[in-house]
Amino acid sequence: MQMLSLTKVCAGYSGFQALFEVSVEVEAGEAVAVIGPNGAGKTTLLRVISKLIGATSGEIRMEGASLARVPAHEVVSRGIAHVPENRRLFPRLTVEENLRMGAFPRAARKRYGERLEFVYGLFPRLEERRGQPAGTLSGGEQQMCAIGRALMSGPKLLLLDEPSAGLAPVVVQAIFDLVRRICAQGYTVLIVEQNIRQVLKVVGRAYLLEAGRIRLAGNSREFLDSQEIRKTYLGL
Ligand SMILES: Nc1ncnc2c1ncn2[C@@H]1O[C@H](COP(=O)(O)OP(=O)(O)O)[C@@H](O)[C@H]1O
Ligand SMILES: [Mg+2]
Repeated sequence: MQMLSLTKVCAGYSGFQALFEVSVEVEAGEAVAVIGPNGAGKTTLLRVISKLIGATSGEIRMEGASLARVPAHEVVSRGIAHVPENRRLFPRLTVEENLRMGAFPRAARKRYGERLEFVYGLFPRLEERRGQPAGTLSGGEQQMCAIGRALMSGPKLLLLDEPSAGLAPVVVQAIFDLVRRICAQGYTVLIVEQNIRQVLKVVGRAYLLEAGRIRLAGNSREFLDSQEIRKTYLGL
């Protein structure tokens, strides 16, 4: 079953076009990566899916239903959770208060206790630090908290914007292991990364976005074997 589809989506910022006829598909249960250099439009792509910015043309569907008339604050109730670039936690609120913020849709509030238990089961470290202000966590723990917060809404599709950015190499490894565990739990994941070699080990398929256009699409093996990817992005 198709979870998410973008068909020829164009989008941008007042007078500046950042995405050109971008088509992306994600099947239920799949993990898919969007890779590409800085400024390619990866963050814009995730923002347009969660309706933080509007598409100027093209179509976005979630489980077959168009998102055209869905306002940003209702996207989460369609089953989409977005973990933004730079995590955007509330630094003075505790870990648990941050997690509670992720459970604000009414349907999610009812299942708060159960979800909290699930998130703490997935990330025991967060439970140990439940009463600590989020701003005092390490970078890797903050990323866990941001992902945990997104899971509190009970999403079907998780959008991850560069979860490994700014983290030390051993922590990057831990974050990718975590993403692998989330995929194994049956979540559908669309992940944006600059850490290309590592993300291709986690996902089944990928898209290469350059200057707002999809330049290549294929399975991870094809990406790892591609001369262009090897030369330009893996330095081989
Ligand atoms: N708020 C904004 N206003 C104007 N231009 C923006 C804004 N955000 C991003 N851009 C531009 O859109 C392009 C794509 O940016 P972005 O989606 O952040 O790329 P990436 O995440 O791949 O690094 C870049 O040229 C960037 O300068
Ligand atoms: Mg970005």
